[in-house]
Amino acid sequence: MVDIKVDTAVETPEQAVENTVVRANNHPKSNQINEALTRIQRMAGIGVLTASVAHELNTPLSIITATCSNLQHEVEDNSLSMAQLLKYIEMIEQSAWRAARTVEVLRNYSYDEAGQTAVTDLNMIIEDALTLVRHQFQGEYNIHIQKELADDFKTIVCDHNGLTQVLINLLLNARDAMLPDGGAVTVKSWVLPAGSRLNGSENQKTAVETYAVSVSDTGSGIDPAIMDKIYEPFFTTKPQGKGTG
Ligand SMILES: Nc1ncnc2c1ncn2[C@@H]1O[C@H](COP(=O)(O)OP(=O)(O)OP(=O)(O)O)[C@@H](O)[C@H]1O
Ligand SMILES: [Mg+2]
Repeated sequence: MVDIKVDTAVETPEQAVENTVVRANNHPKSNQINEALTRIQRMAGIGVLTASVAHELNTPLSIITATCSNLQHEVEDNSLSMAQLLKYIEMIEQSAWRAARTVEVLRNYSYDEAGQTAVTDLNMIIEDALTLVRHQFQGEYNIHIQKELADDFKTIVCDHNGLTQVLINLLLNARDAMLPDGGAVTVKSWVLPAGSRLNGSENQKTAVETYAVSVSDTGSGIDPAIMDKIYEPFFTTKPQGKGTG
């Protein structure tokens, strides 16, 4: 089980300070995921993510229908070789798996249960969160997604779905911060060895090896005047009826 902590600044490998960071470490004491992630937030998120999911499903379904159409023509023409048949079967199978994975991500995201722990890969959580926002970001909001992911993560035990929700919330915050023109959002993950400094302070250091994830954007940044308030549940600067906090 890992501790999950949402923080505003932590050292990157280049000693830079990121805007928003989730860090997870293999601390022996179990801990609950950030309590501010309520069902309301999750359900509000599903509405805006539907278009992304529809798009993610559409691509593999298009491949399947196009492949079936090819198969039909080639059988009618008597031109289908065994090698080509095997290739088509592989394409259909891969596309079906991709569609099934997308459905699973959405199902997990909307699952209304207290945190469930699972052995998982932090980079897979990032990919899941990006699956749910990618189409909307690129299609509607002119947001370019960049990834810089660690390649040396071990699997961890954590609340996979809870952490996916944390990342989606950070991604949606980044999206809103870049309205109306869009920009770029960068998701980064890296390993902090035990004893790394946190918040740029000498006193706060990681006790054990820690995995960090940051979501940064090219918006104007968080207004320093509200920095103390942003972790309060239901705090928002959005007009009434827009934010869930
Ligand atoms: N990436 C960001 N850039 C600039 N400001 C941000 C960013 N992320 C958060 N903020 C500021 O922090 C406030 C609180 O964010 P929070 O996610 O808690 O609520 P919200 O985004 O306003 O509403 P909700 O998440 O419920 O839709 C935001 O209203 C915004 O002013
Ligand atoms: Mg938000």
